[in-house]
Amino acid sequence: MLRILVMNGPNLNLLGRREPEVYGTKTLDDIEALVADTAGDLGVDVMFFQSNHEGALIDRLHEAMGECDGAVFNPGAYTHYSYALRDAIAATGLPVVEVHLSDIGAREEFRAVSVTAPVCIDQISGLGPASYTAGLERLVRHLRKEDEWT
Ligand code: DQA
Repeated sequence: MLRILVMNGPNLNLLGRREPEVYGTKTLDDIEALVADTAGDLGVDVMFFQSNHEGALIDRLHEAMGECDGAVFNPGAYTHYSYALRDAIAATGLPVVEVHLSDIGAREEFRAVSVTAPVCIDQISGLGPASYTAGLERLVRHLRKEDEWT
C-alpha cells in the first residue's frame, strides 16, 4: 500500500482560529480527518506531521526517505523563502505536491512567489481544505502512473 506523508508548516496548527476570513473555520484536525477519508477511498496509508520549526520539517522529510512514497506539503510562509526546505524536498527525491488553502497568487506580492514549487511535482492553491484532498489525489495518480497520457 502506498504511504503518504501529509505535512504542515508554521501557524497551521492554529487553523480554525487563525484569520478565518482567509483560511476558513476548519481546524487542522478537521482537515486531517478529511484527508484520512480520501486516503481510505483511494486505498492509501497517510501519516500526518505539523511543525512550526523549519529544521523539524526538514528532519521529517529526511525520515520519510525509505518510509514514504511521497508527500503532500503545505509549507506555510516557508513556501516563500525557505531554500533549506526546497533543498530538502529535492534531496529526498520524493514526489511532493505543494498545497495551500488560500490562493497565494491572488494575495500580497510576496506570497505569489514559491521557492519550493519548482522542486514539487505540482502546486494546488486556493481550494481551501479541498486543496489537500486534490493534492493527495494528484500525488496518488502520479505514483500509480495514471497521469501519463502520452
Ligand atoms: C498558506 C499561505 C501562506 O502564504 C501562509 O504563510 C500560510 C498558509 C495557505 O495555506 O494558504 O501560512 O500556505
